[in-house]
Order: sequence, then C-alpha cells, then structure tokens
Amino acid sequence: MKTTPDNSGDVRLSGISKTYGSFTAVHPLDLTVPEGSFFALLGASGCGKTTTLRMIAGLEEPTTGTVRLGDQDVTHLPPYKRPVNTVFQSYALFPHLDIFENVAFGLRRRGIKSVKKQVEEMLELVQLGEQARKKPHQLSGGQQQRVAVARALINHPRVLLLDEPLGALDLKLRRQMQLELKRIQTEVGITFVHVTHDQEEAMTMADTVAVMNGGRVEQLGAPADLYENPRTTFVANFLGTSNLIEAEVGTRSGDDIVLKAGDGKLVLPGARCTAPTTAGGKVLVGIRPEKISLTHADDAGEIPAGRNRLTGKIADASFIGVSTQYVIDSPVCAGLSVYVQNVERDGRLVPGADVVLHWSPAHTFALDAAQAIDAGTEEEVAA
Ligand SMILES: Nc1ncnc2c1ncn2[C@@H]1O[C@H](COP(=O)(O)OP(=O)(O)OP(=O)(O)O)[C@@H](O)[C@H]1O
Ligand SMILES: [Mg+2]
Repeated sequence: MKTTPDNSGDVRLSGISKTYGSFTAVHPLDLTVPEGSFFALLGASGCGKTTTLRMIAGLEEPTTGTVRLGDQDVTHLPPYKRPVNTVFQSYALFPHLDIFENVAFGLRRRGIKSVKKQVEEMLELVQLGEQARKKPHQLSGGQQQRVAVARALINHPRVLLLDEPLGALDLKLRRQMQLELKRIQTEVGITFVHVTHDQEEAMTMADTVAVMNGGRVEQLGAPADLYENPRTTFVANFLGTSNLIEAEVGTRSGDDIVLKAGDGKLVLPGARCTAPTTAGGKVLVGIRPEKISLTHADDAGEIPAGRNRLTGKIADASFIGVSTQYVIDSPVCAGLSVYVQNVERDGRLVPGADVVLHWSPAHTFALDAAQAIDAGTEEEVAA
C-alpha cells in the first residue's frame, strides 16, 4: 500500500534543526538527497549525524524545519507511517527466530501470508540463501549485518537509513561489506543515507558526501571533488591528510597568484583559492601528501622548472608496502607529510637526508587563514 501517488525517494530537509535545552545538536540545515543516490553523512563523534538521521526517520522531532520525502511532508508523521527503514550498528536480530523468519518479520507483521518468494529473493540479494535455517548466533558479524539489511529492504522503503551499520565489524570485513552494500544499493536502486565517521568508508560508498562539523554541513559534494577542492581546513584535514602552510599573498601573474612562504615563493592557480587575496594578506596553502615528489638535495638541479618547491630534512620514514610515508621538517613548516609510491626507491631518502619537496602548481589550493589550521586533524578531533 503506497501512502502517496508518487514514487519519489528524494529526501528534502528544509531548515531542520534540533536543540536540547540550550545546546544545539543540529543547526538549521537544508539538504536534498536525490532519489536513488547513495548519500553519506560524515563527521566526528557528536557532530549531529545520528540526530539528523533520526529526524528523517521520525524518531526525533525537529525543533524547526520540515522533512519531505518526494512530494510528501512527513514532518509530523510517526516513524511507522514513513516509507523509511533504519539499520543500526547493533542490528538486533531476533535471536530465537531463524534467518528466514527474521527477514519475513516485516511481512508477517503486516499480515502477509505468502512470504516465501519475497524472503527467498531478499536472501538471494544479500547472498545468504544457504543460511536461511540458521539462527543469528550461527552467522558471522558481516552475515548478520546483511540479514539486518534484508530485513529492512523487504518492507520496500523508499529510503534506507544506515547508522554506522559496519561499526562493529573488523577492518577487513568492513571493507568487504562496504562493497557489498554498494552493490545492493545499485541493485535495488533506492535512496541510501549512510552515517559514518570513517572518511574512507564514506568516499568508497557514496555518490555524494556531506561533511558535518559541530551540527553544520561544512561541505557537500562527490568524494573526489571534496578531496581535491576542500573549502575549509576541517574538510582538508578530516578527509585524508593535507599539508597546510602559512603564506603571504604576493603578486598576480595571469591566472596565477604568487605566494611568499618563508624565503621562497609558491604559485597557485587563482581559481583554487577560496581565501581573500589582498596583497600582503595571509592564506593557508594546501597540498596533498601524494602530490609531492621528493628529490635528494644533491640532485636538486634535475627538478624541472615551473614546479613549486620547498627545502627540508627527512625527520621520519615509514615503509608501508605500496608507499613510503615521510615526515619532513622544512624551514617554512615542520612535519610535512609526503607519500612516495614504492616504484624505484632512492636509498638516500632516509631520516636526516636533505631533500627538496616539489609539486605541480596545479595541485596547490589555498584556504582562508582565519580558520584553525588544525581543525579536523586526528589530534584536534580527539581533544
Ligand atoms: N537526547 C539528547 N539530549 C541531549 N543531548 C543530546 C541528545 N541526543 C544527542 N545529544 C547531543 O547532540 C550531539 C549530537 O549527537 P549525535 O548522536 O547526533 O552525534 P553523532 O554525530 O551521531 O555522533 P557519534 O559518531 O558519536 O554517533 C551530541 O553532542 C550529543 O551529546
Ligand atoms: Mg551517531
């Protein structure tokens, strides 16, 4: 039974907020999740992800604003009247029922008698056809999680909400389940809204990621776009690692901006600067660790002209298989990260070596220096 004539699974949040007493967990938020997309809400603990999800599900009443699903305003509907299902981290299967009956539960509750075909299809979808007669405790964590997804999907929700559904799994199983959930979403084609604090998980799975910080969405976009063009220090540091270097705005040269960092200069495409660029003003120059090449100081003459460069000394080197991760102290900035693919390793690049860091100006971005330089770093988030 459809509650509305349209099938749209768009989720539209307009000005929704949530306050508890004098504390604002979610500031007024406008967000549209297009039908059929895989959308991730990403952010550190306490930033308001679960609260936002619970307002979509109807488990939490918004302090202000509206929730629409397609053309239907569901703001004042109770959870069970919304075409939405939620999968939680604690998937809470019924321990005394077998897998088949766990998945059949939603259908039986609605008084549907012939459940066999639908349940079998669902078990097939999550690749648990063989396990139908087992009890939950006889399955692995990943298998139990897939039962929870099947149990939600059998109700044909227009939107599936997932709150850290992989949080209880170990890393390897998490990676498998990320691909598995992505496959299921592509196959059923309904809107998934997935909450996680794991940036790799969000980037692996989602078409669109909304990065939340302190009850606000700081930036929203496709994973690659967020990664390459962060607009705030929080996004630059929380999504992967960024080197952020204080610099002073110098002259313009065509479409480029020339910046002064210590004694040297760095060139930045004007279009990649989100900070005010009055000459003499401060900006934070950003460069991702894998975009930087390392050359031993003795070979500095071989570096092609036109590259941004900084001198430094290797403070630490960690070999991690596919790459070596260096920490480099430069006169303009201590603790720069550089990741070098292990193709041809230069045996001279060991702690204590003098090096030149260099990269293409095109890979340089710049952010407003008025923000905290360490926002979103592991140290800052843990504090
Ligand atoms: N019922 C409540 N009463 C008071 N404060 C609450 C309540 N529920 C949540 N909060 C607060 O609102 C903020 C956001 O909580 P929320 O559960 O949405 O965070 P989260 O992003 O899901 O975090 P996590 O990653 O740890 O699950 C937190 O600071 C939390 O303490
Ligand atoms: Mg949460």
